Amino acid sequence: MGATSTTVIVTEGLTRSFGSQVAVDALTVTIEAGEVFGFLGHNGAGKTTTVRMLNGVLAPTAGRVRVFGLDPTTDGHRIRARTGVLTETPALDSRLTARMTLLHFAEIYGVPPRERTRRVDELLALFELEKRADSKVGGFSKGMRQRLALARTLIHDPEIIFLDEPTSGLDPVAIRDVHHTIEQLTHRGRTVFLCTHNLAEAERLCDRVAVLAHGRVLAIGTTQELGSRLNRGHRISLEIEAQDIARAVKLFAATPPVSLAEAVTDRTAVRNGSATIVLHGVSRSEVPAMIQTAIQHDLKLYRVQPEEPSLEDVYFALQEL
Ligand SMILES: Nc1ncnc2c1ncn2[C@@H]1O[C@H](COP(=O)(O)OP(=O)(O)O)[C@@H](O)[C@H]1O
Ligand SMILES: [Mg+2]
Repeated sequence: MGATSTTVIVTEGLTRSFGSQVAVDALTVTIEAGEVFGFLGHNGAGKTTTVRMLNGVLAPTAGRVRVFGLDPTTDGHRIRARTGVLTETPALDSRLTARMTLLHFAEIYGVPPRERTRRVDELLALFELEKRADSKVGGFSKGMRQRLALARTLIHDPEIIFLDEPTSGLDPVAIRDVHHTIEQLTHRGRTVFLCTHNLAEAERLCDRVAVLAHGRVLAIGTTQELGSRLNRGHRISLEIEAQDIARAVKLFAATPPVSLAEAVTDRTAVRNGSATIVLHGVSRSEVPAMIQTAIQHDLKLYRVQPEEPSLEDVYFALQEL
């Protein structure tokens, strides 16, 4: 991003309570234009409440928030003119056709009349809804409805797109389509704020993630940064002679710093006479010593590979801290 980066969202101690319950607890975050920022947490973590505050539809209880340098509490309408929000359960009028739905929103969002038809056609094409453009939404599948809802969110070409659990409840094909669309948006330089409880989704799509629990951010960073901040979660896989597997597991289980040595059954590898064991809790600097131990005990090594911790490892390790 470098010197040309532009901050589009900044919050400091952003807080929202409902009665005695703190839904969002002192959120401090800065998001740059063009980032895909993942907001990761279980149900009730505070994701939707945050999106609502950032768009000025819900007032904070405390803290500071600026979107495009504007205060959502007083300039919500100016912010919303430049953001698109896909809510968790988008309401679509089943009596309208896809085209009518988009034209209606183009009007609401002030897309100039002479540009509306072109814009709507573009979005129908982008979301592969052309063939059903003049069918009523009532007959659409869940995936088609979600594609139409996404198209509607983009009608005014917003600079920040908030996606609140965009793939929950969709089948794998629809999920793939939504992921593809998000990737396309990022190629066009849009900022995406993606709320999800799906770790694989965040890992695949996001530049950075914030891990949220009970309204509090447990960590913010790239997947790699989060992983290296935790000492646990490092894994090393060793490919060895299949017949040595039990011996190797026993050997490494008794060799600190390995916290767990487990055999991984990979049928192709076993057929080739080799098998993999995975060692947990080893840091990179300890790898040479592990290799030496293996050699001293006559284990034939075919491959030694440190594995990056997955977001899932990070997520559960953080929850336990
Ligand atoms: N309008 C509201 N009134 C009372 N409590 C609310 C309201 N909106 C959200 N909450 C509570 O705030 C917490 C965070 O909710 P939410 O932001 O919807 O979480 P998420 O989107 O991560 O599932 C939850 O415990 C929820 O019950
Ligand atoms: Mg929510």
